[in-house]
Amino acid sequence: MSTNSDGLRIALFFLVTLCSGAVGDEIRSGGKFPLVVSTWPFLEAVRAAWRSVDSGFSAVDAVVEGCSACEEPRCDGTVGPGGSPDENGETTIDAMIMNGVTMEVGAVAAMRYVSDGIRAARLVMQHTEHTMLVGEQASIFAISMGLPGPTNLSSEESREKWINWKKSKCQPNFRKNVMPIDDCGPYSLESILSFGERTCLSTKRAGLDQSGPYHVDRHNHDTISMAVIDKMGHIAVGTSTNGATFKIPGRVGDGPIAGSSAYADTEAGACGATGDGDIMMRFLPCYQVVESMRLGMEPKLAAQDAIARIARKYPNFVGAIFAVNKNGIHAGACHGWTFQYSVRSPDMDDVVVYTVVPEMPTV
Ligand SMILES: *[C@@H]1O[C@H](CO)[C@@H](O)[C@H](O)[C@H]1NC(C)=O
Repeated sequence: MSTNSDGLRIALFFLVTLCSGAVGDEIRSGGKFPLVVSTWPFLEAVRAAWRSVDSGFSAVDAVVEGCSACEEPRCDGTVGPGGSPDENGETTIDAMIMNGVTMEVGAVAAMRYVSDGIRAARLVMQHTEHTMLVGEQASIFAISMGLPGPTNLSSEESREKWINWKKSKCQPNFRKNVMPIDDCGPYSLESILSFGERTCLSTKRAGLDQSGPYHVDRHNHDTISMAVIDKMGHIAVGTSTNGATFKIPGRVGDGPIAGSSAYADTEAGACGATGDGDIMMRFLPCYQVVESMRLGMEPKLAAQDAIARIARKYPNFVGAIFAVNKNGIHAGACHGWTFQYSVRSPDMDDVVVYTVVPEMPTV
């Protein structure tokens, strides 16, 4: 072992100690239940869920109130109507709700013309035997069950964003291994002739630097993912998002996928996730977190372990997770960005925002 690498080890150890000691430590909620936890500083959403659950409503109802509060003023422009236009300039909605007592799930994906994502998801859960409805047929169902619509989900802001993107030749975008690489479509498969051996084709994203995290950041790629434990100790989770900006029409991310963006089991705990959903949904990180806690793992370690498993395969992915166990102990973990999650419990006067920094990799 050279002195150099020993030095590196010591430096890294120091950093790890520093990071984990400073912020994002596991926090026990003193007054216990009810409890509301949400991704990001979505204060109004957490307050709305809190008012509902604190006045005696169920965890499921509180999740709906909380996520709805986020859909109306469009928390950060990426939840609810008027944000995240797709390649055609259209906004669509993904949402999911899960009852951690019965393990029932309701979800809508790529829903058009209806802004109430979480309410539509609850209708699927409570008034059908299904788990997920998609696209225009989800909209028809939601409207037939009484939700307002058809509604124009575009806003001046989303319209302008999309026009500017078209002007900059549709860059960046989510295509790969297609021609043209630096312009708008129509796209076609890369020609074998122009690239020689098919096996030599490299994976590349059109117009993007594949070495780093691309256009994923808080303002174009986040989701509200919320967990509520009610006074009975029952747990529910819900998510709502309008997905990735300039996504390919028809794309469904992690938001409406139970086990990916959120998961709940009253016997173990709950989890919420946000970030690069296209990657995260391949790992079902929230299912893993809840199952780890069921086996006795502390929330902090469960969240870190789920993030680390993704990072080993995708070192450049951007994502974050919060975990809360059935006793109300919560923690977060993240990769590629600094994460914040919000909590409201009986021993707090108002919502408290916790900051989590990425951990250094284990040496
Ligand atoms: C929807 O709203 C956007 C933004 O306000 C507007 O530009 C667009 O024309 C509207 N579409 C329809 C079909 O009314």
